Amino acid sequence: MSNIQDKVVVITGASSGIGEATAKELASKGAKLVLAARREDRLKKLQDEIQTIGGQAIYKVTDVSSRQQMEELAAYALKEFGKIDVLVNNAGIMPQAFLAENKVDEWDKMIDVNIKGVLYAIAAIVPSMRERKSGHVINLSSVAGHNIYPGGTVYCGTKFAVKAISEGLRQEEAMNGTNIRVTNVSPGAISSELLETTTDPTMKAGLEDFYQVAIPAERIAKTIAFAIEQPEDVAINELIVRPTNQVG
Ligand SMILES: NC(=O)c1ccc[n+]([C@@H]2O[C@H](COP(=O)([O-])OP(=O)(O)OC[C@H]3O[C@@H](n4cnc5c(N)ncnc54)[C@H](OP(=O)(O)O)[C@@H]3O)[C@@H](O)[C@H]2O)c1
Repeated sequence: MSNIQDKVVVITGASSGIGEATAKELASKGAKLVLAARREDRLKKLQDEIQTIGGQAIYKVTDVSSRQQMEELAAYALKEFGKIDVLVNNAGIMPQAFLAENKVDEWDKMIDVNIKGVLYAIAAIVPSMRERKSGHVINLSSVAGHNIYPGGTVYCGTKFAVKAISEGLRQEEAMNGTNIRVTNVSPGAISSELLETTTDPTMKAGLEDFYQVAIPAERIAKTIAFAIEQPEDVAINELIVRPTNQVG
């Protein structure tokens, strides 16, 4: 039996891109999905698709930047399935622009979704994993969590933060012997709706050029499945996954 079968997996940002592809991949391997994002029509459609192939999925409309909504998501998952085995902290936005553009509202949003959203999910879900002495937290950082480039400063800052949170969580859980595995996934250019969150025209044109080598979101879904299906005493901690022909 695969180490994914019957696991309860909460995925934030499940309504498109990497989150959606991961939900389908894990459902096909027998996981029970809890889908979260803001767009209900997309979540409902994904739930229907998963159920059509014989998979199990429930969903809850959730804004990850709301601590209360994240707590409600955790409570719903625990009520419906009795446990949470895996948290995929995937929701994210990337409104890139040069600092001189002073898009302070976009900085706030990136910090709220990409950093606070990850922390709120950890706060809401990891305590139940500690109690059961079992669990897996998978955080979506980025190549932008390893490299800094002009125009990406705040986005890179949020993704460096995700990498730091992953490693800090890993060390603290290992120190306390909670058996909680932590995986930091850093994708390169992946085809998704993420570019739509960049409003600055110059930056967007540059990104579209950079994304010509992009690979499908299903590639990251398989990477996430690979991390989960390892034996419980193995934690894949860090994965950088680029298109073969991506340079930076
Ligand atoms: N695509 C890439 O090249 C790439 C590379 C490296 C890292 N990543 C990371 O991978 C993750 C997934 O991105 P993606 O490429 O799959 O982009 P995407 O297609 O735009 O998906 C982003 C997801 O996040 C959700 N989301 C955004 N704000 C939210 C909020 N406040 N509350 C709840 N959900 C929210 C969106 O759903 P709703 O709008 O319905 O809420 C959507 O489901 C992100 O963390 C991104 O930074 C992507």
